[in-house]
Amino acid sequence: MREICGKSHGKLILMGEHSVVYGQPSIALPFRAVTIQVKLEPAGNYSYLFSDIYEGPVEEAPKKLDALVGLFNRLRHDFLSSHDHFLIKVNSNIPVERGLGSSAALSVAFIRAFFNYLGKDLPNEVLLDYADFAETISHGTPSGLDARVTAYNQPLYFKKGETAQPFHFHTPYWLVIADTGISGNTKQTVKNVRDAYESPFASRQIATQKTIKHLGVLTTDLTQALKAPQPSLEKLAALINAAQHDLAALQVSSPELSWGIDYMRQHGAVAAKLTGGGGGGCYYALVPDRQTGEKLIQALADSPSACQSWLMPFSSESN
Ligand code: PMV
Repeated sequence: MREICGKSHGKLILMGEHSVVYGQPSIALPFRAVTIQVKLEPAGNYSYLFSDIYEGPVEEAPKKLDALVGLFNRLRHDFLSSHDHFLIKVNSNIPVERGLGSSAALSVAFIRAFFNYLGKDLPNEVLLDYADFAETISHGTPSGLDARVTAYNQPLYFKKGETAQPFHFHTPYWLVIADTGISGNTKQTVKNVRDAYESPFASRQIATQKTIKHLGVLTTDLTQALKAPQPSLEKLAALINAAQHDLAALQVSSPELSWGIDYMRQHGAVAAKLTGGGGGGCYYALVPDRQTGEKLIQALADSPSACQSWLMPFSSESN
């Protein structure tokens, strides 16, 4: 049986989640510690999905797989016919709904598998067009950041509506990424921020818009700080902590995230913030060196604040 495969990986938003939806800058890294693989096999009379979260006919897939189903139907419509059926096998260790870009990674891996099946080249613009289509089904008004960092497979500086720029930087510091183990619903947190941003209550609207702009300033400052020949740990820490403060003000943090972030700061992190849509999901810490990172990973393993954690150098070369 001809079996075709497409691969992708997670992403880590360093700064700019939520504010990127309003045209502010963002910085994100590929997060290759978590990956996804989609296999396609031509099938008989109907299409069938095997995945961790659902196994059954594609047409009956649960709502949380709407983006995949929509993408599948659109690709079939554009290149094949609705009589063409497949077994779709998804193998992933990207935690779902934890801010690590699992939905964009699934779309990108699926599109790659589909084009492999067609035997067609897949230019980045085409990949992004389909990935943005799927992300719109998932999130409503996505900035496009997740799809780009997953598709381009390199650290990016990105503003909505502009071409994403590769972002190169080097620091001697390390990052610890931790998962609260609790799902965050990005569609919901994006909607909550939108409601506040357009609130009929002037004070709420003004405060939200000010916070979004301030997140943009912090991200621009982070970009500059990371480009310095020897980025200052204190400066980076201050910016990351300030971004977490703003995200909490936007009410996209959660008790578990705040708890985990405080715990990290008490166990060697000089800064910590949530990453992704929030409301649950993952957070990361900045630590001065690998040894402190390893100790922090150990401390997290001994606490209920994370169900899993990862350590990585804070440098674009290793991402
Ligand atoms: O939760 P994730 O991994 O889908 O990240 C969402 C990032 C947001 O900025 C909140 C939304 C967006 O479209 O950029």
